Formats: sequence, C-alpha cells, structure tokens
Amino acid sequence: MPATGARPIGTADEAGAAKAVQQMFDSIAPRYDLLNHVLSANVDRLWWRKAARRFRNVLERSDAEILDICCGTGDLTMALLKLRPPGARPILAGDFARAMLLRGAQKFGRQARQAPDRGKDSGEAPYAIPIEADALHLPLRGRSLDLIVTSFGFRNLANYQAGLTEFHRVLKPGGQLGILEFSEPGGLAGKAYAVYFRRVLPAIGRLICGRSGPYNYLPSSVGAFPAPGQMLAMMQQAGFQNCAWQPYTFGIAGLYTAMRPPLP
Ligand SMILES: C[S@@+](CC[C@H](N)C(=O)[O-])C[C@H]1O[C@@H](n2cnc3c(N)ncnc32)[C@H](O)[C@@H]1O
Repeated sequence: MPATGARPIGTADEAGAAKAVQQMFDSIAPRYDLLNHVLSANVDRLWWRKAARRFRNVLERSDAEILDICCGTGDLTMALLKLRPPGARPILAGDFARAMLLRGAQKFGRQARQAPDRGKDSGEAPYAIPIEADALHLPLRGRSLDLIVTSFGFRNLANYQAGLTEFHRVLKPGGQLGILEFSEPGGLAGKAYAVYFRRVLPAIGRLICGRSGPYNYLPSSVGAFPAPGQMLAMMQQAGFQNCAWQPYTFGIAGLYTAMRPPLP
C-alpha cells in the first residue's frame, strides 16, 4: 500500500505531519546547506542544474510565470535564475518554513544586488520573490503558471495526491511540472547505497546538526515514498499527461515531468 503522504514519527494525521515537517526544517535551516553539500558530495548541485536545463524552453521566455515550491534555501531557484533572460518576470519561490525561506531570500537578494543598475525594460538581472506558502494551499489563481518545479520537497507533503491536484489547479493548460525527488535504486549499487543512506548519512547528519531526528527522517521518508511507477500513476490521476521519470545518478534521485493538458 503506497504512502498517502509524509508521516514523521509521532504524527498521526495530515495537520500534525505538516506541523512536524515545518518545525523540523525551521530547526535545521542554519545547517541545511552545509549538510546537503557534505552528504551528497556536491552532487546535489548537478541535479539542480540538470533539472533546470530540462525546462530551458520555458525559462527562456521572459513572460513565463514560474514557481519553485518547497524552495527551502533556494538552490534550485538559483539554478533556474541562471537560465532566465534579463528583464524576465521574477520567479516565485515558496516555502512554509520561514527560517529556510529567509536563507533563500538572502541568496536571491545577493543575486539582485549583483545586477547592473538598469531599468526593468532595458534588462534587469533576473530575480526571485520569496513567498511564505503551503504547497497544498497555494495563494495563487487557478491557471496562472507556466511552470512549477520542486526539489526534494514533494516527499515531505502530508498528502501527495492533494499536492498534485493543487499543482494542476494553478498551472495553465499546457503548463509544465517538474518534481526532483530521491528514490531507492535497485541492484548491487542500490544495496551499497542503502548502507550509506540508512546508516552513514544519519550519523554524519547527527554530528553536524547535533540532533538525530531530521537525518533519521530523511531515509525513512525516502523509503516510504511511492516508487516511480506509483508516482506516475498518481500524476495521471491528478489530470497530468506526458508523465515521465528520468533517473539521475543510478536512480538515487530522479526528475518527474508532466504537463497539464492543453486546451483542445
Ligand atoms: C529537503 S528541503 C528542499 C529544499 C530545496 N528545494 C532543496 O532542493 O534544497 C524541503 C523543503 O520543503 C518544504 N516543505 C515541505 N512541505 C511543504 C509544504 N506543504 N509547503 C511548503 N513547503 C514545504 C520544507 O519547509 C523544506 O524547506
């Protein structure tokens, strides 16, 4: 029976799960970037860049309306911004953990300050607007976005099907969806990786962050997350078409892509 949504230990319902996830990310925000890069040996940077390149056709359109939801400290947002043309509409970068979002906002701010002092029409450097938002209740009009992307956040939603339905609601017909998420590779490489992911990673996480909860939660949440086939079926059920999954780095992670069907 596939999981219907994240359930950190000690939580029994959606409201409790969402609160626990929010508090957990707020608490690890100061160490999040360091831990990410150490634990993934910087491969995470390649994944963000690769995922961003997949949507180059949308990112290159100045008028495209784009949301990075569960943006956390904003590294995927930064990869997206690199592919936006000067003067492009700002990317919306949303998260419900304020401490994570504030760190992201500092990066977007830095990006904005590095911009040459030029007027909007003459080619202002692309930037992002941080918004405090819950992925399950987006403060956005229906059919308003050309692209929604999210990296390593979807797994934490308290209700996966509700999340996909909400993404479908706010995308324009023909709008695209990209979900970068961990998965559990099979075969021998998968077994070796499982030892690292379930034993070594939580120990390093505990060492750097001083707490065990969040880095025990990471492998258990990946283990409970639907396999690619189940996830693709949920995307179709939410009304998406062209649903596909591309594995990254032997399937340790992968990018789900889909489109809200265009109008007939
Ligand atoms: C593992 S971090 C990923 C951050 C960033 N996207 C990255 O790739 O590093 C997961 C993020 O998802 C956010 N998140 C989880 N559930 C959410 C929800 N329902 N609404 C908004 N943000 C959520 C958390 O607050 C956290 O910042």
